Formats: sequence, structure tokens, C-alpha cells
Amino acid sequence: MRDPVTNERHGAEPLLEVLDLRVRIERDTGLVHPLNGVSFRIQEGQSVGIVGESGCGKTMASNALLRILPRRAEITHGSMQFRTQAGDRIDLAQLDPMSRRMRQIRGGEISMIFQEPMTAFSPVHTVHDQIAEMIRLHDPGADKEEQHRRVVELLDQVGIPDPEQRAFDYSFQLSGGMRQRAMIAMALASGPRLLIADEPTTALDVTVQARVLKLIERMQRELNLALMLITHDLGVVAHMVSYVYVMYLGRVVEEGPVEAIFDNPKHPYTAALLRSIPNLASKSRRLEPIEGNVPSADRLPTGCPFHTRCTEKVGDICQQRMPARVELSVGHAVSCFRYTEESLDDG
Ligand SMILES: Nc1ncnc2c1ncn2[C@@H]1O[C@H](COP(=O)(O)OP(=O)(O)OP(=O)(O)O)[C@@H](O)[C@H]1O
Ligand code: SF4
Ligand SMILES: [Mg+2]
Repeated sequence: MRDPVTNERHGAEPLLEVLDLRVRIERDTGLVHPLNGVSFRIQEGQSVGIVGESGCGKTMASNALLRILPRRAEITHGSMQFRTQAGDRIDLAQLDPMSRRMRQIRGGEISMIFQEPMTAFSPVHTVHDQIAEMIRLHDPGADKEEQHRRVVELLDQVGIPDPEQRAFDYSFQLSGGMRQRAMIAMALASGPRLLIADEPTTALDVTVQARVLKLIERMQRELNLALMLITHDLGVVAHMVSYVYVMYLGRVVEEGPVEAIFDNPKHPYTAALLRSIPNLASKSRRLEPIEGNVPSADRLPTGCPFHTRCTEKVGDICQQRMPARVELSVGHAVSCFRYTEESLDDG
């Protein structure tokens, strides 16, 4: 049984456990450090949100998991333990990205919904053929009739009207919202246990966004999928996930159950992020942008990564040393000198 407060499942190993993952990219102009020791875990059937401003490494973290990092990017440290359907524990960081095993996991056990569905579909094949291909790859025993039945069933499940007909459309013939639904159907075709949704609705207009998010939520619940929802939109996270990781400059700076993060944020960055979203309950809808810009990943600041923008610094220690992770209450942890003994010594 899963603990309702932490993201621990008693007696069972997590589905995915990422520990101190570091990625660096070599560029002609120097080294870029998009992930600098990121750690997070996802339990079976759990919905987890990864939030942070643009450039903090959200997409890089999911691409590292799927081993689809850009050219000249390398994992320099850390592990990504994944528990497979068969029950083995595999460190995805140690697999060859092109190996058969990794290809089975990518798109099979772990599926991804991209921000832009056009990139997921080939323009020269029908939606039917592409979803059927996913079914065939992961269930070679399914004959053509069975594949067709499952394609139609999946399209129906994700709310595509008249799925028998629409299945034979090309992706460009579908509206934006329908295309996104078809991509969700394709992501589910292989029967994954972990679904990664990277900004799944930002390319859609607002009315369609809410419906697509509801669909992802329904699928996650009905199929007992683990969901890793990546977004810079804290409003979306509040409704969709039970546990949140807040990222800044390629690290997790705060993590906790969704209520703790929203009602009792501890890290100055989380608090600033929350102030920057419109508060529906308050009369003032004014946004408070976070002062300053996210430093570039090729010029990381010393000490606490947020110190160049933090309005609550406790002293020189903030720019000299990296704050350790401190657990404040069960399942709620933060990396900030405001909560450590060291800051008191620093005086
Ligand atoms: N191919 C690349 N070469 C060099 N640097 C890159 C590359 N791709 C991403 N980066 C850098 O890595 C860092 C993390 O990027 P990433 O795309 O993971 O951010 P993100 O949190 O997903 O942002 P967004 O919310 O805009 O999608 C950024 O500083 C980005 O500039
Ligand atoms: S460690 Fe210091 S600079 Fe970093 S968030 Fe905490 S108070 Fe701000
Ligand atoms: Mg991104």
C-alpha cells in the first residue's frame, strides 16, 4: 500500500528511482550542464509533477530517462533504476541507447506524450497504421484483425468520434485537440507502465487544454499508470498530481505532497513560482514575475543555484556552498540554508 503523504510504497521498490543524475553537453563554445544531480522517484500508479521555469532541465531529465539525449550529451554520473514488467531492476543509465532492451523499454514500458503531436506522427502513414505498428511491436502475436480492433478501441477510449473512420485519417487531417488525443492513444498502445507527458497541452488552445488534461488524468487512473507530468504551469500540477518535484538549474530544490508544496512552500524559489501564477481566489490577478533570469547552464553560479535571484539569502554561505537536502516533515524536503544548521554557524 502506498503512503498517502510521502511517495513511498511500503514493502515495494519504486517503479523508477533517479539518483544524483548529471548530464553534460559538449559544445564548440564549452560545456553545458543541464542536469546537476537530479534525484526523484515514481511509484507504480503514482502521478508526479516536475515543475520549474523554462531551461531548468525538465525535458532533459525525461530525455535522459528514455536515452534520447542530444548529440554530444553524456550521462556523467548517477543512476536511473527502473523496475521492469518482469520484475528486474535495470539501470537505464547503463544501457546502450540503441540496444534492443532500451528500445523495448522506450515506447513499450515507458511512453511519452510530446508537446507537439506533429513530431510524433509520420505524415505519410495513417494514424491507424502507426498505432497498429506500436501494437504489433509490443505484441507480435496480435494479427491484423486484432490490431484493428485495438486501434479502434484506443481511439474510442481517448474520445475520438467515429473512430472506425477517423483511424484512417492522416495526422494532419485531424484538429489540434484530436491529434493530441490520437497521440495519447498511440502512447497507450504498447501498454506502458510509466507515461511521461512533457508540456502535453501548451500547444493547444485553452478550451481544448482542459479536456486533454482530463483525458490524461482519466487514463492514468483507469489504467493505473505512473504519470510523470512535466510543466512550467503550477496550476495544471495542482489538479493532476499527488507529489511534486520543483526543479531549478538541473536540480530538485524542493519536493513534497502537492498540498505541502502549494499550502506551505519552503524554498524561496517555490514560493516565488507560486506568487507568479494568477490566484483565482484573490481579487488581484496581478502576476509577480520572479526577478532576474535563470542563469545559463554553461555558466552555473557557485553555491546555491538560486542565490543570484533569491531575496531571502541568509548570508555569504548561500553563494559559497551547496545546501544539502533536508527533510522537514514526512515526504517534504528542501535544499536551502534557511533550514539547515550550517546557516546558523555562518552567522
Ligand atoms: N541540444 C542542446 N545543446 C546545448 N544545450 C541544451 C540543449 N538542449 C537543452 N540545452 C540546455 O539545457 C538546459 C535545460 O533544457 P531543457 O530543455 O531540459 O529545459 P526545460 O526545463 O525543459 O525548459 P522548457 O520549459 O523551456 O521546455 C537549458 O539551459 C538549455 O539551454
Ligand atoms: S540557500 Fe540561500 S540563496 Fe539558496 S534559496 Fe536558500 S536562502 Fe536563497
Ligand atoms: Mg522542456
